[in-house]
Order: sequence, then C-alpha cells, then structure tokens
Amino acid sequence: MAKSTLQNIPVSAGEIIDLEIDSMAYDNSAVARYKDFIIFVDRGAPGDSVKAQITTLRPNYARAKITEIKGSDPNHRIEADCKLFKVCGGCQWQHLPYEKQLEQKDLLLQNFFAKLNLTDRVLKSILGADNSWNYRNKVQYPVRTMEKTGRLKAGYFEWHSNDLINIKYCPIQNSLFDNIVETVRELAPKYRMTAYNGKNKTGWLRHICVRVGENTKEALLTLVAISENLSYSQEFANEVMNKHPELVGVCININTNTTNVIYGPKTKVLKGRGYFFEAIGDLQFKISATSFFQVNTSQTIKLLEILNNFASLTGQENILDAYCGVGLMSLFLAKNAKQVIGIEEIKQSIDDATFSAKENNIQNAIFINAKVENRIKDVLEKYKPEIIILDPPRAGCNKTILESVLNTEVKKIIYTSCNPNTLSRDLEILNNHYTVKSVQPIDMFPHTYHIECIVLLERKYRPNTVCGN
Ligand SMILES: C[S@@+](CC[C@H](N)C(=O)[O-])C[C@H]1O[C@@H](n2cnc3c(N)ncnc32)[C@H](O)[C@@H]1O
Repeated sequence: MAKSTLQNIPVSAGEIIDLEIDSMAYDNSAVARYKDFIIFVDRGAPGDSVKAQITTLRPNYARAKITEIKGSDPNHRIEADCKLFKVCGGCQWQHLPYEKQLEQKDLLLQNFFAKLNLTDRVLKSILGADNSWNYRNKVQYPVRTMEKTGRLKAGYFEWHSNDLINIKYCPIQNSLFDNIVETVRELAPKYRMTAYNGKNKTGWLRHICVRVGENTKEALLTLVAISENLSYSQEFANEVMNKHPELVGVCININTNTTNVIYGPKTKVLKGRGYFFEAIGDLQFKISATSFFQVNTSQTIKLLEILNNFASLTGQENILDAYCGVGLMSLFLAKNAKQVIGIEEIKQSIDDATFSAKENNIQNAIFINAKVENRIKDVLEKYKPEIIILDPPRAGCNKTILESVLNTEVKKIIYTSCNPNTLSRDLEILNNHYTVKSVQPIDMFPHTYHIECIVLLERKYRPNTVCGN
C-alpha cells in the first residue's frame, strides 16, 4: 500500500474506533462516516452505535469489524431467525426487519441511479414479497469431506472464508431441500462418494443441487461431479427417489473445470428425467438440470405482470427477447404479440424453450441458440422488433449489444436486471437515445442485499433534420 495515498486518512489499520451507522451498503456491510471518511462495517445495521476495528484501508474508504455493539435501534436491528446467520455467507440482511430491508434497498437504488436524475414517479418503491421465507426454488451446495469422520459436509461458505458450513436447515429455501440434501449426506459413505479436492485432485463430488417447481411440486436432484463414474449409481438413484417421491429425476452433471462455474456442459440422467416442470399462470415450462430459471417463483409472477404492463401489447408487435433462458418472458408475452424471437447461449435452455412453446401450443415464438452479441444485428435487421427485452446476467449487456440497439429505431426497451451497478452503467449509455420512463424494483431475494429491477425505456423523439442544418 503506497504510504502517500493513505496519508490523509483519519484511521489506521487495526485501530478501534467509535462509529454511528447510517445505512446499508450493497453487500454484507453497513455504512458509517468517521470525520467524513466512509467506513464499511461488516454486518452493521442502521442506528447501531458500535466500537469497530479497521480491517482494510483504501484511499477512499476503509472496512471494519464490530468489536462491541454499544447501542442499537430496535426498529432496525433484530435477532436473525437463522442460528447460523452470524457465520453463514448465504444471506446478509437477516438482522434487519423485512420492511427495513425494503427501505434500505430503495435508498441504495436512489444512489445507484443518482446520475440519471430520476423523479420519484419514475423510480418506484420496491415491491416486497408477501412471504419473505422459504422462497428459493433451488439450492447449490458445494461439498467437503470431514477430516475426522470422513462424512460429507454440504452448505454455504462462512463469509470472508473458504470454510464450509454443514447446513441442515436454511429458512430462505424450500424446506424440501434440507431433507433431500441430508439423504445424500447419509448415503455418501455407502456409495463411496467423497468430495472432490481440487488441490490434490482426489475425490469425486463437487456440488449437490436440488431444484423444485413450486407450483408442480416436481423436484430434481443433480450431483455435480468430476466424472460420470459412480459405482452402483442406479442403486443410489433408486434409493434417493424411493425416499423422496417428489423427485422426478436424479442426474450427474460432469464438471472438470477449474473455474468457479458450477455446471459443466454434460449431464447424464441416472433415473427418471433430466428436467422438471414449473407452472406459471396457464403455462408449463420445461426446465433442464442446468437451465436458468428465476429463483423466487411467487415474485416471478409479479415480475411478469410488470413486464406485461410495460409491454402493453396490441397483438401487432414483434418482440426480441435477448437472454431468453427457457423462454419464460417470450412465452408469457407471445399470446398477445405478433411474434417473439428469443436468443440464448445455452443449447439446453433453447431446447427447453422450444419444447415448452410446442407443449403450450404457442406457434409465434422462435428460439435461436447463440450469444446475443453475435446475432443481435441480424435479428434486428430481419425481424425489426418494436420491443426489445434485455435480461442479462450480473455483468450486464456488452457494448456491441447496446450499440446495436442505439443504431435502430426500436421504440421500447424493457431491461430486467439483478445488478443495479451494471444496470445504471447500461442505462447511462441507453439514455443517449432512450428516456427511462419507469424503474420498478422488485424483491426477488429477501434477506440478502441483492436487488432486481425492471425498467421501461422509450425512444426519444427525433425531429426530422433539414439538410444543411
Ligand atoms: C438472468 S437470465 C434471464 C433468463 C430469462 N429472461 C428468464 O427470466 O428466465 C440470463 C440468461 O442469459 C443467458 N446468457 C448469458 N450470457 C449470454 C450471452 N452472451 N448470450 C446469450 N445468452 C446469454 C444465460 O444462460 C441465462 O439463461
């Protein structure tokens, strides 16, 4: 750390100082100011009065951990429901009452969109969940083998650590998952399933993944492993499926990658199906083991209602659904549109979308398996959509895509995002030719800091230019 860059900072590493906490940050910390210098305090809550020790120093901010809570505001700090909350990195805001979490998310969004100067009428308050518990419809636990007992551990990592917590109960996910994961833990020694160790390249299992269709009650178990070789795999699948009748299939996904991407490209079905169904309204969606699906089903229904309002279709529109996944938004809008074209890079998801279109008797949806950035130009030229839906991953849209959109006369863009950082960056670019008409945040991820937004943009009016002017 260069001394000169840090010389005007009013605190030093390791120092313990008194702090008053103002608000939440967009992570697992809260914001305090010390002589106008910003300090992020791990797991703080607004209204806390604390002693905190500086753990990290940077030119513009520091990080600190609480050593003593001297006082707190009971409207803002509560005892977390989960006993593991203090150590688990799975969720970050359980120590705030749910309505305060929503207030803090609204405040964060005002900061994220400050440069866009949005009025209160444009930037709406976040739409909360009716039930903030048991909402996650999927779990993806990494595994380790316990040194002493040789038994399998599965759960989330401790925050700021590589230590895995053996989670037996998680209040934010579907309660079915705790039992299914426990069965895999119990059966692991019998089937010689040991956790894969990337350092010495021993062991086999990397993740235990379970997903469920909340409305169909169909569950799917996928073991992500280093190879497809599991002795007595049929017997294993029989045993788990007999014990858990909700399971419609058991799969092995093979991932030999060294990155932290969970799934590899190949999935082998051991028993039953390699996919499950979810019902949304009157539509049935096929969802394969590794295909993306929104994680909070009841909030997804609200998200689709907002999408529908923003689109306000007349039946004459061509719609481009970029990043379409299994066709959730495409198929939902298709019945009121002329045609929908979905683009998605994962082949399995495109196959799911095509299957669901057929099953739901939807004939005006086309799905293209490609990276959006590689096909958007041709698709815009060929289909001349009136509406573009953008729902990219956390990294947001790449520049080629935004430039292609800016170079067309598309009237309306509906941008859905789970990352306000990249969303505000992309909106600033789109703002050259599009006006942000409405931003509706929706809480898809209660008890975590994550925020989903759905944004309506409309093409700015361009007066005809007269030659020579
Ligand atoms: C946030 S999900 C949205 C899916 C869908 N809109 C939904 O609501 O279910 C993003 C999707 O984009 C896909 N994806 C990521 N990068 C992509 C790219 N460069 N081109 C095409 N698809 C991409 C992912 O596989 C994932 O299915």
